[in-house]
Amino acid sequence: MAFTLGKKKEVIALDVGSNSIKLVQLKQAKKGWELVKLAIAYLPPEAIVDGSIIDSMSVTNAITDLLKQNNLKIKDTVSSLTGHSVIIKRVSLPAMTEEELAESIQWEAEQYIPFPMTDVNIDFQILGEDVEGRGQMDVMLVAVKKEVINDYINVIKEARLNPVVMDVDSFALENMLEVNYTFAPGENIAMVNVGASVTSISVIVGGVTSFTRSIPMGCNQYTEEIQRNFNISFKEAEDTKLGSVSESVEEDELAQVIDGVSSNLSMEVKRSIDFFLGANPGVIVSKIFLCGGGARTSRLVDIMQESMALAVEVANPLNDISCNSQDFEPGFIEEMAPYFGVAVGLATRAMGDR
Ligand SMILES: Nc1ncnc2c1ncn2[C@@H]1O[C@H](COP(=O)(O)OP(=O)(O)OP(=O)(O)O)[C@@H](O)[C@H]1O
Ligand SMILES: [Mg+2]
Repeated sequence: MAFTLGKKKEVIALDVGSNSIKLVQLKQAKKGWELVKLAIAYLPPEAIVDGSIIDSMSVTNAITDLLKQNNLKIKDTVSSLTGHSVIIKRVSLPAMTEEELAESIQWEAEQYIPFPMTDVNIDFQILGEDVEGRGQMDVMLVAVKKEVINDYINVIKEARLNPVVMDVDSFALENMLEVNYTFAPGENIAMVNVGASVTSISVIVGGVTSFTRSIPMGCNQYTEEIQRNFNISFKEAEDTKLGSVSESVEEDELAQVIDGVSSNLSMEVKRSIDFFLGANPGVIVSKIFLCGGGARTSRLVDIMQESMALAVEVANPLNDISCNSQDFEPGFIEEMAPYFGVAVGLATRAMGDR
């Protein structure tokens, strides 16, 4: 139970991905959350490459257009960084208080982060107290290169917004699941976010993200395979993947190409989850939630389920969020929901949250 002192400040959430920018605004309703805004703007393929902003003008313009189209006046913005640019490590450190760790974190983190400390921003979360009396505690270390974080902050500022929180995709997804689903005590689940250029995997143990890994493979791989197989342009291949019928593409062959990529992706996901399970004997993962635009890929759920021998389900980021406004077309929301996992998670952040 938490007491809210005064009116909570309103924020907008922006998930700046390489394929598209997702915007969400939520408000706290009497019971739970209510959706206020939800919108998406697509970016040209060369605007963000490997997690780095190459064409900041395109990104800023896309954000500005989104704000205008949605008549948004709120300035405080919560945003996040994707797996490419973030190093997340679970480490064991001498037991100490949060305040003590905040003071010594630079020094403690140095041996785990492969960059000079002056080049990175470090954050941390203490995962468990010194339960076994070993004098050690588990800590999740998060390091982001200043150069990358600054580029993201700058496009947000250029769009005349005020960045107040910079989160990490996997932690936003943990929040998204928390507000939308109820888990049995001790139920552990994996979250797989299939984006355009990166797929991030995390395992949430007892409600806390305990493992994350990102693989440099996502929906662009489908497009590239279709492009190669049918000898068409990237744009034509992307349209074909999203369902536009093209004369030069035979349907069965297309399905085969798509399923081939889904199998490879599922194998990579399995490898990561098996690695986690191997390092954590006794921990059982009961389900995999999928989100990101890639969760909409036909048959991916079935293919992943088969290769993992685990239940796989597309997460609905609006599962327990009410959508009362007449502004939302139910069909649109249902169809687009998987895109908004990270953005919904970010939108549940109150200002001042760590
Ligand atoms: N129905 C669909 N079938 C296959 N792929 C789809 C479908 N719908 C969307 N996608 C793909 O989802 C991807 C976009 O997903 P998402 O918005 O999660 O990526 P992103 O956040 O922009 O990228 P990243 O996080 O990797 O930088 C695009 O590559 C798009 O082609
Ligand atoms: Mg993304």
